[in-house]
Amino acid sequence: MKENLVKLAKKYGTPLFIIDHSKIRENFRTFKKNLPKVQAYYAVKANSNQEIIKTLFKEGSSFDVASYNEFMQVYKYLKHFQKSDKYFFIWDKIIFSNTIKDRHTLKKIKKYKPLVTYDNADEVKKIKEYCPTAGLVLRLKVPDSGSQVELSSKFGAEPGEAWDLIKLAFDSGLTVEGLSFHVGSQCTNFDNYSSALHIVSDIFQTCRKKGYNTRIVDIGGGFPVPYDSGVPKFEQLAEIIASECGRLFPEDTELIAEPGRFMVATAATLVSEIIGKARRDGKIFYHINDGVYHTFSGIVFDHWQPNFKAFKRGKTEVCAVVGPTCDSFDKISVSEQLPGNLQIGDFFLTKNIGAYSTASTTKFNGFDGARILHVNN
Ligand SMILES: Cc1ncc(COP(=O)(O)O)c(C=O)c1O
Repeated sequence: MKENLVKLAKKYGTPLFIIDHSKIRENFRTFKKNLPKVQAYYAVKANSNQEIIKTLFKEGSSFDVASYNEFMQVYKYLKHFQKSDKYFFIWDKIIFSNTIKDRHTLKKIKKYKPLVTYDNADEVKKIKEYCPTAGLVLRLKVPDSGSQVELSSKFGAEPGEAWDLIKLAFDSGLTVEGLSFHVGSQCTNFDNYSSALHIVSDIFQTCRKKGYNTRIVDIGGGFPVPYDSGVPKFEQLAEIIASECGRLFPEDTELIAEPGRFMVATAATLVSEIIGKARRDGKIFYHINDGVYHTFSGIVFDHWQPNFKAFKRGKTEVCAVVGPTCDSFDKISVSEQLPGNLQIGDFFLTKNIGAYSTASTTKFNGFDGARILHVNN
């Protein structure tokens, strides 16, 4: 594998972000195998590369989009469908998971009769005015402690407000199709899912008792990726989810999920190159040609801790790895155990970098970011 990566890096140049589509397909199938009753909507946010969407579309995935542009990235594959198939796909396989949508977006998506989430009264008014064709999914605030990225401080209605928000939507002439939550991204505290499912099941039952045909339970994302050996297994989580859902919800409930990271994180590898080497206060600083403003942006936005492997062997010591820009914030890691004998032109390998990486790359300081290479697509 190492030789192959070096060959690719020499052929295409660095930084090189290699996306292995066979791994994306494998991740999708693993998800389906372990949670066969849950419809998987890939959260495009994790990596919106068009080829990834294409691969997942071909696999039969559904999609979670947050903006009109993300919607269009999926719509591209439906354009040629017959009208009824196209509308069925949009209704059945796309969810707008952003609880706040601007008025222009709502106006633009009105004709598609979309499924959209909400979590507050003003959003109901806005949807009613600008996109009354939409089906609604109420997002609830649930425990997210212990997740790498916590989301409940920004999104989700308090469970205590849920019924009022559901009633408000129905009274406005809209339909609440279901309930959703997100336990936080890279969730390793599986109790978060159990607690969330309990919260949702109480509200779901209330809706059914009041005569509403609430049908969807959207369990969001958060499915953990094995970044290190301490991460509990997805298979174990899937067992918990399947058994809790079976116990808490009626047979006719439509279970859906919005996995992002799980589908793509392990599918990409980055090869970066040392462009400078300096000893600063006694520590070796490897300056590489990718950084925090580029493929390693997940350090900031995703609270991600990268991993580095050198292609060469040597006596290791604690080194810093820093990015190419003129900003002192552009430090990827100040404590990596790496060989001290690496030279300019040597490569580093970073695995499991497919999610929340190129998705939030900037062009800061005039650096383009990594070249993307697709393999097995
Ligand atoms: C609404 C929503 N759904 C799904 C996801 C995907 O989450 P994850 O990558 O943890 O699976 C996110 C990401 O934060 C999100 O905000």
